Amino acid sequence: MRSKIKKFVTKKNRHKLVCLTAYTKKMASIIDDYCDLILVGDSVANVIYGMKNTHNINIDTIINHGKAVRLGVKKSILVVDMPKGSYNNIQQAKRNAKFIIRKTKCDAVKIENNKKNFKIIKELVKDNIMVMGHIGYTPQFNKKFRVHGSSIKEEKKLIQEAKIVQKAGAFSIVLECIKGVVAKKITKELRIPTIGIGSSFNCDGQILVTEDILGMSGFYPKFVKKYVNLNNLIKKSIKKFNKDVKKSLFPRKKHSF
Ligand code: KIV
Repeated sequence: MRSKIKKFVTKKNRHKLVCLTAYTKKMASIIDDYCDLILVGDSVANVIYGMKNTHNINIDTIINHGKAVRLGVKKSILVVDMPKGSYNNIQQAKRNAKFIIRKTKCDAVKIENNKKNFKIIKELVKDNIMVMGHIGYTPQFNKKFRVHGSSIKEEKKLIQEAKIVQKAGAFSIVLECIKGVVAKKITKELRIPTIGIGSSFNCDGQILVTEDILGMSGFYPKFVKKYVNLNNLIKKSIKKFNKDVKKSLFPRKKHSF
């Protein structure tokens, strides 16, 4: 196992794992020092392309963003999401995972679980491909957002699903919008680190969409903490620029040749 990932998966004596998304070189280079893992998420569909869900982002688009992010990532683990429809069967999953890794030079790929694709994870891992799992609310397969793990039956299923993802060989698993008590039980049961999004502090680490915490995406559900309102700062700056241009206050002598 590659050394960065080896360190990431060691559960003992370790700080909580810090994970964020990035879609550009610039953002990746700003956040790299403060992250253990950076994900080129298929959330690029919503955040950058304004699509209503993640279903129509294709391999070429995710690869282009992966290549850009690779240029900005020096120390974190780089994971790229496999888009919906790119891992429908073992052969296709292997071909596309290898293509994504070759083109982006990422360390691993992430696959959302549809309760059936454990075998795909297993086959990828057999082929020496690092895989991050993803259970709970999985936007590629769940039509409507909801919190998972509210009933005993669902709790049992989630724990079992997490264990099977681990058994298939995933090095880590994202728990999305899973009840805190259930996330706690999964984290206790698993050897691999759990990375929560909307799944409480009971996970081994946290992941959020960077544009959400910076107040740029306009998407602020309960589980997002907004650290700054960049939309407002950008608006204020552009308003000033607009005024300067209109009043001939810009450009000045120092901006001219
Ligand atoms: O695409 C994404 O951004 C994700 C989340 C887990 C952050 O999958």
